[in-house]
Amino acid sequence: MTTTLTDKEFEQFQSLIYQQVGIKLDSPKRNLLVSRLSKRLRDLKLASFQAYYDCVSRKGGEEELTRLLDLISTNKTDFYREPVHFDFLRDQVLPEVRGTKTLRVWSSASSSGEEPYTIAMTLCDALSDISRWDIKILASDISTRVLAKAASGLYEEERVSQLPKDLVRRHFLCGKGPQAGKYKVRPDVAKLVAFRRINLMDPTFPIRSALDVIFCRNVMIYFDRPTQAKLVEKFFRYLRQGGYLFIGHSESLQWIEHQFTYLRPTIYQKPF
Ligand SMILES: C[S@@+](CC[C@H](N)C(=O)[O-])C[C@H]1O[C@@H](n2cnc3c(N)ncnc32)[C@H](O)[C@@H]1O
Repeated sequence: MTTTLTDKEFEQFQSLIYQQVGIKLDSPKRNLLVSRLSKRLRDLKLASFQAYYDCVSRKGGEEELTRLLDLISTNKTDFYREPVHFDFLRDQVLPEVRGTKTLRVWSSASSSGEEPYTIAMTLCDALSDISRWDIKILASDISTRVLAKAASGLYEEERVSQLPKDLVRRHFLCGKGPQAGKYKVRPDVAKLVAFRRINLMDPTFPIRSALDVIFCRNVMIYFDRPTQAKLVEKFFRYLRQGGYLFIGHSESLQWIEHQFTYLRPTIYQKPF
């Protein structure tokens, strides 16, 4: 039996999701909401979307709200996705911080971990003296489901099958026995990355030292312009002078007011 989502219920979910994560679900996403929530309604033995809405929006409903956000988030990602940023990190950023051997990077919508681990692999490959460096990669996302996957560092073969074989050998342990077909990020790479749940809508972030680079790729596209502008303004505060903001290939800061210097498509710098 399928449950119907009324216009009123859709609007309620739209405004709750917008308020919580800044994502504006437009009408074409209505079917997606229905398909993703229907199973959850059945599991909880709820008769209507209204009942589910009441459950996530009431006091004490935070856990189910997290579940809802998990269900509606789009987590598509890949190792070495949009490689221009990893090349820039290696060729431009590393020489700048070589003197202090200290690097702070934030992968701010890290999904299942491919992006922050790619950052770590890039650094391991580029720095022969990495053991003498102080490197911290903070990786965060709103979704606890993808964060748990990311923290496990364990990936199916198809996630790494497009990568060069020698790179896979260098940075992954190949599963044996019951783990055959699985690939685990090697400890020397994994130890550079720390995962935590951060909502980009929060007014402040739990970050104390000034950042060299922020990756915020392929998430701003889901936010409206005022939300993007607020987020970019917060990023500006958390970067050091001369620090960089990387955004996704289909995103741009062109339509919002900001204080960054445009360097090239998807790469912005906080002025000195
Ligand atoms: C399409 S993935 C992008 C992953 C990666 N940055 C990349 O480009 O490959 C977008 C991620 O943003 C996360 N996200 C959506 N809204 C968020 C918010 N308000 N705060 C933090 N993360 C959010 C989603 O959970 C999802 O994992």
